[in-house]
Amino acid sequence: MTKIIDSKEWKALESHFKSIKNIQMREMFNQDEERFNNLHLKLDDLLVDFSKNRITQETIHLLTDLAKKVDLESWRKKQFSGEKINNTEDRAVLHTALRSQTNDPVYVDGIDVKPEIKKTLKQIEEFSNAINSGSWKGFSGKSIDTIVNIGIGGSDLGPAMVCKALKPYANQKLNIHFVSNVDSADLSIALSTCNPETTLFIVASKTFTTQETMTNAFSARHWLVNKYNNEECIKKHFVAVSTNLEKVEEFGIDQENMFVFWDWVGGRYSLWSSIGLSIAIYLGFDNFKALQEGAYEMDEHFLNAPLEKNIPVILALVGIWYINFFKFNTQAILPYDQGLSLLPSYLQQADMESNGKFIDRDGKRVCVETGPVIWGASGTNGQHAFYQLIHQGTQFIPSDFIMPIKSHYDLGEKKNLHHKILISNLLAQTQSLMMGKSIDEARSELLNSGLNDQEIEKLLPHKSFEGNRPSNTILFDELNPKTLGKLIALYEHKIFTQGIVWHINSFDQWGVEYGKQIARLVLPKIQGEKTTNCFDSSTNNLINHIKNKC
Ligand code: F6P
Repeated sequence: MTKIIDSKEWKALESHFKSIKNIQMREMFNQDEERFNNLHLKLDDLLVDFSKNRITQETIHLLTDLAKKVDLESWRKKQFSGEKINNTEDRAVLHTALRSQTNDPVYVDGIDVKPEIKKTLKQIEEFSNAINSGSWKGFSGKSIDTIVNIGIGGSDLGPAMVCKALKPYANQKLNIHFVSNVDSADLSIALSTCNPETTLFIVASKTFTTQETMTNAFSARHWLVNKYNNEECIKKHFVAVSTNLEKVEEFGIDQENMFVFWDWVGGRYSLWSSIGLSIAIYLGFDNFKALQEGAYEMDEHFLNAPLEKNIPVILALVGIWYINFFKFNTQAILPYDQGLSLLPSYLQQADMESNGKFIDRDGKRVCVETGPVIWGASGTNGQHAFYQLIHQGTQFIPSDFIMPIKSHYDLGEKKNLHHKILISNLLAQTQSLMMGKSIDEARSELLNSGLNDQEIEKLLPHKSFEGNRPSNTILFDELNPKTLGKLIALYEHKIFTQGIVWHINSFDQWGVEYGKQIARLVLPKIQGEKTTNCFDSSTNNLINHIKNKC
């Protein structure tokens, strides 16, 4: 296969890059009144403005040519139809089938997966209804009022993010905790507010072997059994979400309290599966369904919209433009919504675990940069922490600003004041990052503030901003289950598209597996009596130092 960098499409982008890399966005806006109209897209209540990027319409044409060159359209079909595109694990990638709203069959190894999905959804519906109606009773006959989801990575981040984001839709009588860290502080703090008679533990683990999750699950079980002095209580207070029946039974959870999913659901794409049980319970099954419906709408858009009008494709290609041509290898996620404060961590896993790869699908070293560093925080907190670097740092940081137009909350004397302040901050940031402030503008501002010439000259370099700092703005009417579903699916497809352009497998995670493997070797050395000398001298000495202190 020819390397992507040798293709005529890549070369066309390289020469286009040379011609526009120094152009200021503010000039492009001045010269083209239609810039916003030409460089934004809508899908229902979602508006994505990508006009504040260092691109022209020509850039979009050339980037979509690149997407065609790598055959994005046929890869997209392969994914949705159940082909085993996760080639290192020989697995299909079918989180999209979990939220499909049709009865069209999807085959894996010749078997339609839809009936099993439907059956499991029914089980989730019945169980979440039983918890919410109070008909599910704990061991002492009391209804459940607290859910503790024990999981990590994809078995934690998605459900935790969604439950926090959609709290206004939740059953307000239920408390929910997400315990992920093996640090005993995490579980201990959660348990300190739990009543064993009214707490339900969901052990969420695809493999049911993950060290952190299983350690927490066994400690939670120990806590519960200690209170009741009777192992029978596990049946009423523990359910499992997993693909591993054997391990679930070994733990002591009844098969009928197990919610299955399948190897073709990747951990970081699993919130649509039984891993979303905590979502279905906390928000109610109808809201879980609405989340899925929203994602399905984005799936349909991704599958059917032409590449130039395709929101996930455009965001992916603009990302490629920065990473591979400008060499800006970082991406900030900046939600102006407190509910979405976990979105940056969620997308960190979704994107970095998927596209943090230097080996391509054919086992060769990639010839271009791949996944960016994803990070961020909710606005306006980020403004008072790291935005200085975004405005005036030596690095350029493409940023996604994300915001609902209406808030679920209102406070204070003046109607919607909080939210209007939030909106104005977002718009002020994206505008000033793009526009910057020229030396002349800064000078006249300083003159008007009454400073003398000497003071002005001293301050001028600090008070001017070169601008030209790129951002996308993603707006929607309100943060509801359907819209959140769309937003999550948008990023999933963006990640997929970038993986196809880079020719990497976005669906394995051998780097994480490697870390787990080494941790298994280190633990016995920490537990053992003897001095360790089997690793490198740094690791040996650190282990021995820790053992001396324990
Ligand atoms: O972080 C690595 C990973 O393998 C993720 O892909 C997964 O979401 C997480 O561990 C948890 O795995 P499991 O659901 O099997 O406990």
